[in-house]
Amino acid sequence: MDNAIHAGTLAVWGGEAQSLMQGATQVPVVHSVSFGYKDLDEWIQVAQGEKPGHIYGRNTNPTVQAFEEKVRQMEGGEAATSAATGMGIISSALFGLLAPGDRVVSVKDTYGGTNKLFIEFLPRFKVDVTLCDTTDHEAIEAEVAKGCRLLYLETPTNPTIKVVDLERLITAARKAGAIVIVDNTFATPINQNPLQYGADLVLHSATKFLGGHADALGGVICGDKHLVKQIYHFREINGATLHPMAAYLLLRGMKTLHLRVAQQNKSALEIARFLAEHPAVDRVHYPGLESHENHGIARQQMRGFGGMLSFELKQNSLAAVKKFLPRLTFAHAAANLGSVETTVGPPVTTSHVECTAQERAAMGIPEGLIRYSTGIEDTRDLIADLTQALEGI
Ligand SMILES: Cc1ncc(COP(=O)(O)O)c(C=O)c1O
Repeated sequence: MDNAIHAGTLAVWGGEAQSLMQGATQVPVVHSVSFGYKDLDEWIQVAQGEKPGHIYGRNTNPTVQAFEEKVRQMEGGEAATSAATGMGIISSALFGLLAPGDRVVSVKDTYGGTNKLFIEFLPRFKVDVTLCDTTDHEAIEAEVAKGCRLLYLETPTNPTIKVVDLERLITAARKAGAIVIVDNTFATPINQNPLQYGADLVLHSATKFLGGHADALGGVICGDKHLVKQIYHFREINGATLHPMAAYLLLRGMKTLHLRVAQQNKSALEIARFLAEHPAVDRVHYPGLESHENHGIARQQMRGFGGMLSFELKQNSLAAVKKFLPRLTFAHAAANLGSVETTVGPPVTTSHVECTAQERAAMGIPEGLIRYSTGIEDTRDLIADLTQALEGI
């Protein structure tokens, strides 16, 4: 955290002050595609990165830069860059940092889109990917020790809500000389800062908790400045640039990140406890529950357990999910997560929509799993809503 300023203050002020214009108290949305210079020497200096400024909107933009700076300060990284979506930044990172012949170690439970990059796209470019059982730390350490260029982690995972031990695995990667990237989308910088444990890079689908209002797509990565520069270089060429209007919406959403996440942490824990006791529910996956396989690790590395949980009904089938979802009043049955509104859905239409049933089975994702993204509604109403919906099945 920059200068020990607290997260709530950085959420409001981070990246803002230096971007304000003519007394405006809000960061302007700069729509201009290009930035003009009367002096060619100055133009060249900016173009070559010797002087701050902007040349062309596919490369950089002042509103986008303010958003990147806010995330950078909240994650405590040296530098940050962004992309049009979470997948835009993940693919920019992987394709920007890897080369044919490289080896990647990751886990089976990454977000479905990320998993697609690992199993379908990277192998086409002769990048070897080994996916380990997510909670088998010894197996991950052993694979990393064989030698790899990059260790890619996500914690908690989507939608199985597993937690990996960052300190332990990052230590293993250090010994092997591997770069570590952590997807921190579910935890948010309020609950967890992977850079503190020595990760080289931390990334977010900003579409989710950072923006928090399900009205803007975005992705962001921050950490080691040399690595960020490499990723930025690939992103400026692949063109998956974050739009300035989306950057503004994300910036505005982030101002309440700490308040939203505090409420979501509290509500999700209460809901997980409620569901765990409910006779119609078979299993609840939430790292805040003492019964969760990785509860001990979560307690060590997370300041809060987050707003995401998933659960399986006693009748663990897609047919039961079909009956259950429409009974909920205070939940969008939709693919997004991390918003102020509660959002719910099964992996087949949400996190793993791009995967086949066989791929989901290979990842250990039950078709009847229900992912529940807790919003900021009053917890009592969410529990009452779940109660009546569960009675109906
Ligand atoms: C953990 C995680 N990472 C990355 C992504 C991809 O983000 P986006 O949809 O913004 O491309 C998602 C999307 O659900 C996600 O849940």
